[in-house]
Amino acid sequence: MLVLGIESSCDDTGLALVDDTGLIGSVMASQVPVHALFGGVVPELASREHARLIGPLLDKLLLDTGKTLSDIDRIAVTRGPGLLGSLLVGVQFAKSLSFATGIPLIGVNHLHAHLLVAGLENTIQFPALGILVSGGHTHLIQMQSPFEMKVLGKTLDDAAGEACDKFGKMLGLPYPGGAYLDKLAQLGTVNKKLFPRPYIKNENYDFSFSGMKTAAALWLEENPEAKLPMLDFNETYTDAFFNACPQIAKDGAASYLYAIADTLVIKAKRVLKEFQPQTIICAGGVAANSFVRKQLADFAKENSIPLYIPKISFCSDNGIMIAYLGYLLAKQGYYHTLDLTAIARGKIIPNDYKKI
Ligand code: KG4
Ligand code: ZN
Repeated sequence: MLVLGIESSCDDTGLALVDDTGLIGSVMASQVPVHALFGGVVPELASREHARLIGPLLDKLLLDTGKTLSDIDRIAVTRGPGLLGSLLVGVQFAKSLSFATGIPLIGVNHLHAHLLVAGLENTIQFPALGILVSGGHTHLIQMQSPFEMKVLGKTLDDAAGEACDKFGKMLGLPYPGGAYLDKLAQLGTVNKKLFPRPYIKNENYDFSFSGMKTAAALWLEENPEAKLPMLDFNETYTDAFFNACPQIAKDGAASYLYAIADTLVIKAKRVLKEFQPQTIICAGGVAANSFVRKQLADFAKENSIPLYIPKISFCSDNGIMIAYLGYLLAKQGYYHTLDLTAIARGKIIPNDYKKI
């Protein structure tokens, strides 16, 4: 069973092929340079870039892997959540391809795909706890099986990645700032009391990271010497740049990321009262963060639960995770008809699969 996966929910166009042996090949076009000029994703530009790149990327994937359309058994596509315009490009492309070739279609939940891709490298034991941390999402998910997921909590406002990007921007780092902030923070010393653990004085599993940026803005106002020099657009952020940054900025970044990771762990710990996970999976772009990785690893070790963090190229948005979940669904006989719809962020994704 060979499955084509198509991802276009935000600003990455990713396509991949997965079969019974695992990953066959993948291609990806990131739009970071396009949106960096504006300091964030511009939805209209994102859709246009997807529309421009999706066809040539499929051609490249087939060429690279030596496959043809007639080898493909299923077309899996991200149906949501995401930016509606971006999703529509992928969904319409997948539907057109399905209509033209007769290959059955499967709409995939992007959030589930992020977590389940861990199964490409490890055997996931269920029930599992999914911790999804990206630029758009911060979710705690009870994973009963690959096909039964329950959202226990999520962010009520900013996602963890957004909180990183916003502090990065305030310091003077380019968009998206999360990875740069991490680099800076690794040279700093954590002051555990510098930043709050937001929205923990409650019993729930939700997050609210918007207060972090207010705390960071206040801290920067009091410590203006932490502001970093801005480089020209074409200059690169080298190790020498980070080494030369003021110590107060390094310590501030370390304390900020520690507080974010700690908040994730505080809420994840709470979940253990709800159910006993056999595996913890952390995925999404922020799973690359060194503080998140370390603090989650300590938490998992303390509770003797295996922690799987997919490799970085599987963690950020990609077509591989869509192809892989499409494969798992196809194996169960699930598919969608051509009336498959794209579902924007904030809307519930229906469980409307047809079954062979
Ligand atoms: O999953 P992803 O590639 O895209 C979506 O948002 O769906 O996640 C991107 C987010 C951005 O906010 C980026 O700054 C953040 O992940 N990120 C990081 C790191 N690497 C990427 N945040 C903190 N530390 C990192 N090392
Ligand atoms: Zn994502």
